[in-house]
Amino acid sequence: MAKHTVVTMPGDGIGNQVLPEALRVLKAVGFDAEYINADIGWECWCKEGNALPHRTVDLLAKHKLGLFGAITSKPKKEAEAELRPELKGKGYSYFSPIVTMRQRFNLDTCIRPCISFPGNPLNFIRKKPGGGFEEPLVNVLVFRQNTEGLYAGVEWTNPPDSVRAALATHVKFKPFTSVPGSDLAISVRIITRGAAHKICKAAFEWAKKYGYKSVTVCEKPNVLRETSGMMEEAARSVAREYPGIALWSTNIDAQTMWLTKNPEDYGVVVASNLFGDVISDAFAGLIGGLGFAASGNIGDEVAVFEPTHGSAPKYAEVDPPIVNPIAMFLSAVMMLEHVGELAQARRIREAIAEVVKEGKVRTYDMMRIPGGANAIRQGAASTVQMTDAILEKLETAGELAYAGSRRSSV
Ligand code: NAI
Ligand code: MG
Repeated sequence: MAKHTVVTMPGDGIGNQVLPEALRVLKAVGFDAEYINADIGWECWCKEGNALPHRTVDLLAKHKLGLFGAITSKPKKEAEAELRPELKGKGYSYFSPIVTMRQRFNLDTCIRPCISFPGNPLNFIRKKPGGGFEEPLVNVLVFRQNTEGLYAGVEWTNPPDSVRAALATHVKFKPFTSVPGSDLAISVRIITRGAAHKICKAAFEWAKKYGYKSVTVCEKPNVLRETSGMMEEAARSVAREYPGIALWSTNIDAQTMWLTKNPEDYGVVVASNLFGDVISDAFAGLIGGLGFAASGNIGDEVAVFEPTHGSAPKYAEVDPPIVNPIAMFLSAVMMLEHVGELAQARRIREAIAEVVKEGKVRTYDMMRIPGGANAIRQGAASTVQMTDAILEKLETAGELAYAGSRRSSV
């Protein structure tokens, strides 16, 4: 019997291209796992009226570890139009399966590492005051609260009278009282003290474990006084337990400016759901963008790892596939770290680092050329070629390790 069981959910579009490549890499480092493929995504919605079928939920509940590719989400009207005719008008509503999964299993801690690989041509560079350029090393982990905030899903267009009546009790709602219901959309930003405390605690624990000197809570407490206020308060309360780690508090808008001025100043960053989503994409832009951005959705029992990118439908049909699989590989690395296979995780990360540094094999995004069928003709590596290059490094590293151990045993 395999040591680990992983529920694999390729999903839609390029999820089907990058996830199988990650399995090749995991196999190459000897990850002892059984993989169980599970359905998720747009086809499930169209055929079954549920993008996250119960059978997939059951598999995750049973095996507790998931590797996910990407899904396609479409706006409400398009979603309804693509539903199978027999299901139309039967009360089915589309919900993003990844958001639903996070809520269903309380995957409340989202970790998004944004760590630059030396030699990546997409790394952020800046002008030096005295002339020339410098490439600051970015080494940031964003801790995003994953289940609450503006993504909790409590929203209405044309809210019911009871909701309007409740809102009318707030003095700031006065200017909106005469807006017709059909012209009024409302999303509720929910922060609970327990969840705010938990994500801040996770951020500080990480900082302590890996020697980061600061944790930055990135919110907007001067305007969102209640919700961001509670996040900041939680951060302050947790910070008292970690005297060696500085707590900085920044506003989300200012932070998106500061991170391109002095990205090396930041270590661990913690934020509520939407702000964490925004700021992690912003930091990811400094280390190569979506082709390099990985994430883990971690709950007390279940954990699911996924690249930050979506299904990139415009490249899903390009043959051979051209998208960068590194974000998916880094997600698999996070999964290995989560289950304690640290040596295997390190080997993959080092092999990726070598390929990036060498610069001989680059996907289209790393060449800053348009994607599409022409990319390969212009010298871009395909998705599979990028995997092959990483596998080659893994093999060489494996041989060297073997040679080394042989030498020391003589
Ligand atoms: P996207 O992340 O799918 O793609 C945006 C662009 O980024 C692509 O067109 C491509 O130029 C680039 N890109 C993405 N992944 C790449 C990779 N591995 N290598 C190289 N370039 C890459 O975001 P978009 O286009 O806004 O959304 C497409 C669909 O994906 C939508 O239906 C959206 O709802 C869904 N989505 C799903 C997510 C998930 O599954 N967690 C996250 C984000 C979007
Ligand atoms: Mg996002």
